[in-house]
Amino acid sequence: MNPARPHERPTVLDRMLTPVHRWIWSDAGRRVEKLFRFGETETDGGRDILRAAEVTSDALLRRLYLEHAIDEFRHGVLFRHRAAVLLKTSPSVVNNGFQGNWLAPGGHGLDDLQVDGESDSDMLAFLHLSEKAAASRFTVYRDVMQHDPPTRNIFEEILHDETFHMNYTLTQLARVEPERHRRHLWRARLSRLWKAYLRLATGLAGILGSILLTIQYFVLLPPFAWMAKRAGKRDPSGWTIVPPERSDSLDRQY
Ligand SMILES: [Fe+2]
Ligand SMILES: [Fe+2]
Repeated sequence: MNPARPHERPTVLDRMLTPVHRWIWSDAGRRVEKLFRFGETETDGGRDILRAAEVTSDALLRRLYLEHAIDEFRHGVLFRHRAAVLLKTSPSVVNNGFQGNWLAPGGHGLDDLQVDGESDSDMLAFLHLSEKAAASRFTVYRDVMQHDPPTRNIFEEILHDETFHMNYTLTQLARVEPERHRRHLWRARLSRLWKAYLRLATGLAGILGSILLTIQYFVLLPPFAWMAKRAGKRDPSGWTIVPPERSDSLDRQY
């Protein structure tokens, strides 16, 4: 960690997962895929913040959101360019296997952002926590990227911006809501926690559903297949003569 920027301190969880992140980023193919995905996340986040600039009635926030959106678009371009360079130098590296996206997600979690209908204070609290999460993860990603200096430099450059975003959103939240800014932060924290729980529960439900369907396939279906086969053997093969009382009319469907 750079002692000149002590706020770039990864969370305990991100620090604990450092060996996992090192392993995830060590594969060149996975690196390309993840950089492309990060590029998309940054650009999408930039688009949402641009919308936030449109809907806010606070002139200072509008200017800051515009600068913020431009930063996020630039991050998207930086990630995509780096991925393209890596792909050009080793076109065979594309990896369609394990990506570890839930372990090493894109920075922000800005995909949860609902711009319309949010107050300035809620928006700032959400952005502050998202940027803080991004700064924490990008610090770890930068630190595990010793084997790829150009990518490491990109994380370093982006981290600088994310730290600025994290700080300005907190300063502005304190300006907009001097009395209740802590309450807004806690509400945003709980909302993030709830969304994380929902994501985890959805993932778990998917895994449990696959296990149950597999069990059903191998345990419940075989007896039915066996009974169908046995019933099939009892059916006469070939054409059979239909009794005259059942074949008297061809003027209706049944
Ligand atoms: Fe960013
Ligand atoms: Fe950011």
